[in-house]
Amino acid sequence: MQGKLWTVREVLSWTTDRFSQVGLESARLDAEVLLAHALDVQRVGLYIDLDRPLDDAERDRYRGLVSRRLQREPVAYLVGEREFWSRPFAVDARVLVPRPETETLVEQALVALRDFTAPRVLDVGTGSGIIAVTLAAERPDARVVATDLSADALEVAAANVARHEVEVTLHVGDLFEALPSQEPPFGLIAANLPYVAMAERDSLQPELLVEPAGALFAEDGGLAVVKRLVRAVSAHLERPGGVLMLEVGLGQTREVARLLMDAGISDGVTVHRDLAGLERVVSGRLPVGA
Ligand SMILES: C[S@@+](CC[C@H](N)C(=O)[O-])C[C@H]1O[C@@H](n2cnc3c(N)ncnc32)[C@H](O)[C@@H]1O
Repeated sequence: MQGKLWTVREVLSWTTDRFSQVGLESARLDAEVLLAHALDVQRVGLYIDLDRPLDDAERDRYRGLVSRRLQREPVAYLVGEREFWSRPFAVDARVLVPRPETETLVEQALVALRDFTAPRVLDVGTGSGIIAVTLAAERPDARVVATDLSADALEVAAANVARHEVEVTLHVGDLFEALPSQEPPFGLIAANLPYVAMAERDSLQPELLVEPAGALFAEDGGLAVVKRLVRAVSAHLERPGGVLMLEVGLGQTREVARLLMDAGISDGVTVHRDLAGLERVVSGRLPVGA
């Protein structure tokens, strides 16, 4: 990309080829998103004038982004944003990049919340805050609390809470230890905690290794943190009827459903599939008499 005048069409074509050569699956899309970011236009804006040449500053900005993408930095970190439930969320290397499958958790949480008025909602391991912010925005009558072990992650969550002008109270700490003593129980507790087994580390796409390890990996086949949460959760759920909603990994849902039953979250235990048809989310509620 040195020396000559490059047009939008040419840089898109060059970058798509280069990204494809190194095995990036969405090569054209990545090229478009990064170029739109470098030129400060919408993606569709690139097509208004494909023969527009890039000036030096634009070319330098774009080249920097391309070289970081070739180092396998996720596109969301490069542009500083990812859409979730049709809202833009600030993201950077302090938090997991929001995944579309987490929309299944939010969708099911909103269904469960139909049974509540002014519900108390807790999001454990909030990361960028996507679950807490979305539930607060979709259910303005809810009182939403969110926690994370990572103070760095909570800074990103706080920025997203402010951006979307919702009320979410944030606390740092390990699972329920983050909560102030005397915090009343919750009608719904949602969590997308780390669930990737340590053993899978070497077989993962390089992009995942750029994300915070504490957001991805857990001992015990990936379920160590989820198991600790399930064992402790019933003391923090309203009784009866308090709902637990967990996103877990492929192949983990049946074991997690059993964990819920064993922990007494035994009413209506259900495994929900994501948009790809994969089992992703497990929910259950405290039964009457619990
Ligand atoms: C898979 S990421 C999910 C982030 C966000 N909820 C989402 O869906 O995009 C897991 C989050 O849990 C946090 N976490 C890991 N262990 C934790 C623990 N013991 N207590 C609280 N949060 C924890 C991580 O810091 C990370 O932000």
